[in-house]
Amino acid sequence: MTSKNPDKPLAFPPGFLFGAATSAHQVEGGNHNQWTVWELENAKSLAKQAEYKLTWLPDWQGVKDQATDPSNYVSGQACDHFNRYREDFDLLRRMNMNAFRFSVEWSRIEPREGVWDAAAFVHYKKYVGQLRSLNIEPVVTLMHWTLPVWFAEKGGFARRGNVKYFVRFAKKVFMELGGDIKYFCTLNEPEVYTSKGYYWGEWPPNRQSRLQAMWVYLNLASAHNRTVRAGRRLGGAWLFGLSKDCAHNYPGDDAWLSRLSAALANWALDYFFLNMVRRKLDWLGLNYYFSNRFFGYRIHNPEHPQNDLGWTMEPRNLQFVIERLSRKYRRPIMVTESGVADRGDRYRKWWISASLAAIARAIAGGARVDGYLHWSLLDNFEWAFGKWPRFGLAEVNYRTLSRRLRPSALWYGQTIKKLRR
Ligand code: BGC
Repeated sequence: MTSKNPDKPLAFPPGFLFGAATSAHQVEGGNHNQWTVWELENAKSLAKQAEYKLTWLPDWQGVKDQATDPSNYVSGQACDHFNRYREDFDLLRRMNMNAFRFSVEWSRIEPREGVWDAAAFVHYKKYVGQLRSLNIEPVVTLMHWTLPVWFAEKGGFARRGNVKYFVRFAKKVFMELGGDIKYFCTLNEPEVYTSKGYYWGEWPPNRQSRLQAMWVYLNLASAHNRTVRAGRRLGGAWLFGLSKDCAHNYPGDDAWLSRLSAALANWALDYFFLNMVRRKLDWLGLNYYFSNRFFGYRIHNPEHPQNDLGWTMEPRNLQFVIERLSRKYRRPIMVTESGVADRGDRYRKWWISASLAAIARAIAGGARVDGYLHWSLLDNFEWAFGKWPRFGLAEVNYRTLSRRLRPSALWYGQTIKKLRR
């Protein structure tokens, strides 16, 4: 599937989706869910831990003040996107985008068990209506890691019996908002949600149990399958997918152990889950940030260049992940996230340009790719790191809440204009 001529000009199929992505809790502000509770309980300790855990970061001096301040770790009003979405959609329009991925916040829609908030639906209907009026295709995520407090208190996805609540919420969303939606993304990164919350114990609900992690993972697969089955029964013309975080796992040398490790990583981190849901995927969402280079069974990545979070950046490898998944699952792929924490906007343009080239090569080699949704439209609340990492095409001033498109974003907008057909 590798393209024969790497120097061909970039070519994308007509209707290719060029856009950006966000998630509700990271931008909306004013939410009350299991993450809100956790942030408030942990802000002080996260600020304290930063003093010894984050000092190795490439730009530690530049982010130190924010990273050691407890208020950094509380989402609070975030970007106030809930109220300022029209202004934010105008940024999409200015960048000539034709797609936007966002999530609906379950805790707003069903704040108490079985109680639906009509005002939340009115809001999201207007929200989607506004996107449609700008000819921007909405891609709607149902679960981007935040849960209503009542659901978390019932045990969340750690209990198989709770899956029905998620399916009920999803059906409600299909019925209320589905008229204007084509793409539904059931889950965001089930592997990250499970490993951070139940294996490493770093995120809510801070469990460290292999057994429970496995059970949550299986329940998420079941939640996806049952949600799609319910959606298909309702008979809408929806296309269902989910967003899976997939890295490019590759051997750093020819040793059999390096090759075996890379193959095992593909299986354990990607195929194990995707094989459980493959029959219920109309498209596959790919979130790409990482490559893992194996020497023997250890990962040794090149040390440079690194983004502000210290992640090694290898955007061109996106091509190989697309080719691998596309060969294995034979589904259209949508890049639902890919981006860099880059306060100084030093790498973003390069990252986007290399990512687009990687996608174009994969397409030329025969893969079907339907879109590239950059993470993120706005600087936002980066989970347990809080607000200091800056992933936005638009810079957000958290004091005044003003937005400003970064130079890379202006460039991306012009590039989209040239590439769109
Ligand atoms: C998540 C986003 C997050 C981004 C950068 C993805 O794993 O879906 O919510 O902000 O990565 O870390």
